[in-house]
Amino acid sequence: MEYEEPQFFHVMGYVGDADHDVIDMVSGNPDWEPPQALRDGLKEYAEFEPDRFQYPPSDGTAELKAEIAERRGVDPAQVVITNGTGEANYLGMAAALERDIGDEVLLTDPVYPYYPGKTKMLGGDATFVPANRDGSIDVDAYREAISDETGLVVLNTPNNPTGAVYDHEKVEAIVRLCEEHNALAVVDEVYDHFDLSGEFESALTIDSEHRIVTSGFSKSLAITGFRVGYAIFPDWLTENAKARHMLVNVATTRPGQHAVLRGLEGADAAYYEASRELIRERVDTFTDALDAAGAEYTRPDGAFYVMARFDGYPGTMANVERLIDEAGVAGMPGEGFGDAYDDWLRFALVTPRVEEAAERLTDFFA
Ligand SMILES: Cc1ncc(COP(=O)(O)O)c(C=O)c1O
Repeated sequence: MEYEEPQFFHVMGYVGDADHDVIDMVSGNPDWEPPQALRDGLKEYAEFEPDRFQYPPSDGTAELKAEIAERRGVDPAQVVITNGTGEANYLGMAAALERDIGDEVLLTDPVYPYYPGKTKMLGGDATFVPANRDGSIDVDAYREAISDETGLVVLNTPNNPTGAVYDHEKVEAIVRLCEEHNALAVVDEVYDHFDLSGEFESALTIDSEHRIVTSGFSKSLAITGFRVGYAIFPDWLTENAKARHMLVNVATTRPGQHAVLRGLEGADAAYYEASRELIRERVDTFTDALDAAGAEYTRPDGAFYVMARFDGYPGTMANVERLIDEAGVAGMPGEGFGDAYDDWLRFALVTPRVEEAAERLTDFFA
């Protein structure tokens, strides 16, 4: 089986090869500070006894599991600490498909591209359910698409790339559809701290044996390089998921788990609010410029991406490369997220140079 190189890596490579200044709006790497307590936790770790440099419990340190369980209102036994939300999604998706009940996987269009990649890797067949124009989900479309062949539905809210924050009732309706068809719902909430609308409610409040919630600290604590995330499983799926996690990874970074624990303890509400405020300001700056450039765009209710459509300039890889070459701004091609937004480009607002990027785009498209 062949795996396609994610378009993300291609664009990053193209930016790396450029011999002129390019503003990187490709990646989802926060450019702001993690909590000071997280830095302190990391320093403190360097002085621990060698026994703390050895394998931690496979499913995560007891301290971090307890902290997450308390914050999320679940039993620590349901928590698996993973190598980021990426692994948490993999475990959730694998748990659904290894039951051999149905290979069909319902994904949204547009989609975070790693979901179709994982679906293929796990032997599933992806069916795409179009999101509404504003990024919201259409429960009737899921009702029509779901069948007893469906093993899994993957949702992501707040959403990458649309910025939509799904109505809680709709997420619940989809979990209930999964129950009726013996499918599982994996709800990826990695942007849970980037709810700009105040409307986000975690799927954990939905009481169901068919719902798995994934999240992590890459975005909320600004540490995509640490690789610490988690999945919360219903009891009946927990043991298999832990076994898979152990066989694939042995365990997850122990210093990283310690630093995250300290970071969680140290980060107050003001830390998270400051990150959101930064994104709100950048959304305003960027979308003002998009108005000036005559572009159509999405204004995110959550996460930190803006999709933009420039007349006569569809979101192909060739056009992304041209924008890098001629405007010095790098985004992601919309076609990388499915068919719905293939005319669009996605820009990640994780650079202090948002204003400059906006000016470059205005000049280029004017
Ligand atoms: C929707 C979504 N899920 C998961 C991830 C990966 O998160 P992590 O770094 O926690 O593995 C990303 C990263 O951009 C994402 O956008």
